[in-house]
Amino acid sequence: MTERPIACIILAAGKGTRMKSALPKVLHPLGGLPMVRHVLDAAQALVPERIVVVVGPGMENVAQAVAPHATVVQENQLGTGDAVKAALPLLDGFAGDVLVLYGDTPLITVATLRDMVATRNGASNPAVVVMGMRPADPGAYGRLVQGADGGLERIVEFLDANPAERAIGLCNAGFMAFDGVRMAGLIGAIGNDNAKGEYYLTDAVAVARSQGHACAVVEGPVEDALGVNSRAELAGVEKIFQNRLRQAAMVNGATLLDPDTVWFAADTLLGRDVTVGQNVVFGPGVTVEDGVEIRAFSHLEGVIVRKGAIIGPYARLRPGSEVGEGAHVGNFVELKNTKMGPGAKANHLTYLGDSDIGSGSNIGAGTITCNYDGYLKHRTVIGENVFVGSNSTLVAPVELGDGAYTAAASVVTRDVPDDALVITRPDEVVKEGWAARYRKAKAALKARKGEGRRQ
Ligand code: UD1
Ligand code: MG
Repeated sequence: MTERPIACIILAAGKGTRMKSALPKVLHPLGGLPMVRHVLDAAQALVPERIVVVVGPGMENVAQAVAPHATVVQENQLGTGDAVKAALPLLDGFAGDVLVLYGDTPLITVATLRDMVATRNGASNPAVVVMGMRPADPGAYGRLVQGADGGLERIVEFLDANPAERAIGLCNAGFMAFDGVRMAGLIGAIGNDNAKGEYYLTDAVAVARSQGHACAVVEGPVEDALGVNSRAELAGVEKIFQNRLRQAAMVNGATLLDPDTVWFAADTLLGRDVTVGQNVVFGPGVTVEDGVEIRAFSHLEGVIVRKGAIIGPYARLRPGSEVGEGAHVGNFVELKNTKMGPGAKANHLTYLGDSDIGSGSNIGAGTITCNYDGYLKHRTVIGENVFVGSNSTLVAPVELGDGAYTAAASVVTRDVPDDALVITRPDEVVKEGWAARYRKAKAALKARKGEGRRQ
């Protein structure tokens, strides 16, 4: 059957008390992106017509993070049923399928959501589809009570469950798909006569059954439903997420020399035949083209690395940088807002900030761009095929013309024309025999002092 339009409600009003944080829980990063963004990404893969995020009072920063999607404020946290109710005015007249997701459950996959939508549109035309799972330890999850035909009869929360119900292994993962047409009638009928005195969204199932509608379960992986309530759980979820990213990188043609030690951001893009060494960290916004080698202990963030470049070991590439095709950035080299042209090299111990480096230029060991005067940042512009001698200090704003040379240890404060040499160090003085004379004099002095002490 043709699928109907989809809307998503993402619940994110929870305070996240156990995180012990000034930051709302759903803004804590996973793979460098706020947790709630992962849920939005999964939702967006279904191309929904609308997304509504339910936030708590004072969570303007969450509203900002999810913009341009709509947010509604749930004034008091009276339970998941109440949270969904708060979102309904924004779905008035919506006649498709409505998915309810949690902002603190970022490992949800599109595959699971698709299964739920497909079942919602199945022959039994269920009013509610619930994602079920069978965790090794069902703990305090709600339990799914099925009828003889396998259909879903009701969900019982752990606190309200009797021993027989607690023995059920099939648990409520939390995600649900509703028929948008029948949804408001179900949510409106949910009461709060239960152990917690809350409006349980889960009661929508019993309400639907009492109104004569079918309900269904779609079983999915426990991993999809792992929630984050504490920093330890966040670390556990990050580990799983990192493993997914590592697997995806390898499936797409990258070699990871020791996958467990490579740390990705959710948006890292690696081309084919990229080799990533041990202990490499990718922050947000990194694109690496084909054939690049990133050696051990490098740290990259907000950077494009063009084809065939070699990075590291121990390189630091900071936001706004671009490493040109076949360029080399070696050990203890830091780039910030710096563009290196094709074939340019900075192989050792260098800081290049706010600079443009032309193709084929060689930046000697110990080169520093002095880009900051304590108030403002300035650019250093280096032409093509420039040779910057070791330990050069380039005081920006400054320009080195094509083919120029800087002598080692020069402090360059004025622009250098094409093909010129700049040298700013004092003339070299060699004093023949000085060291031998010095040693002799000092040894004699020491011997005389020793005699004095013995007398
Ligand atoms: C819920 C389910 C339970 C299921 C479990 C899976 C209910 C009543 N129970 O329990 O069956 O096994 O999830 O993890 O739904 N939220 C709001 N406003 C509120 C309350 C909650 O926005 O007033 C949000 C929370 O921020 C969270 C989500 O809803 O993102 C789930 O709430 P939570 O308190 O974690 O529900 P559980 O008790 O875990
Ligand atoms: Mg929970």
